[in-house]
Amino acid sequence: MPIRELILKKISEYQPKNGLDYIARFFISMASVRHGKVTGHIERVALLSEVVAKRLKMDAKAAFFAGLLHDVGKIILPYYLFDGHNINQEEYEEVKKHAILGSEALKCDYLFTGLCAGLHHAMYQKGYGLTVKDFPESLSPATIKKVLQISAIVSISDFIEAFTHRTTKIKDGSDKTGDDLKSMLYAKYLDDIQLVEEFPKIEFWS
Ligand SMILES: [Fe+2]
Ligand SMILES: [Fe+2]
Repeated sequence: MPIRELILKKISEYQPKNGLDYIARFFISMASVRHGKVTGHIERVALLSEVVAKRLKMDAKAAFFAGLLHDVGKIILPYYLFDGHNINQEEYEEVKKHAILGSEALKCDYLFTGLCAGLHHAMYQKGYGLTVKDFPESLSPATIKKVLQISAIVSISDFIEAFTHRTTKIKDGSDKTGDDLKSMLYAKYLDDIQLVEEFPKIEFWS
């Protein structure tokens, strides 16, 4: 089954609350108009996040939607930042805004997914985006823990997808930490080594 068809099927079958299925479909449609490279990326990140969460007996549905919407902030920014060219430092500073922007766009109605969007680049060394200090005070410790776990899964999935599919340079300095994906992940996710270990088991190394 083509990946888009599979993604749309899963969006419908999961029946998320509060219209998140419509939001997810709309994001795919919006991204398809001018952010073509973003669509394949978010679809693959959603599937990888879902499969890892399932393996760990965590909330696969939450991981799927967090993966699918993690880069929603990109469509708020100019499309040429994501057209596949090697961006300069000034453009990278603009790109980095997508994490907070995505969180802002989602947080009113989809707080969990919005927090994951804000955190997906904050889960590794020298990352950026939201911090736990930005969380609403009303969140329970159990919810905070779940947000952090799912965000870590999405973040690692995001990096693996970028490493295996992107032809341009990854700008966060990861290339200086190792020669291959595995060593880069170990250097990048020092606090989540055990989680990183789960990924080889699903044969996503390349
Ligand atoms: Fe991102
Ligand atoms: Fe991403």
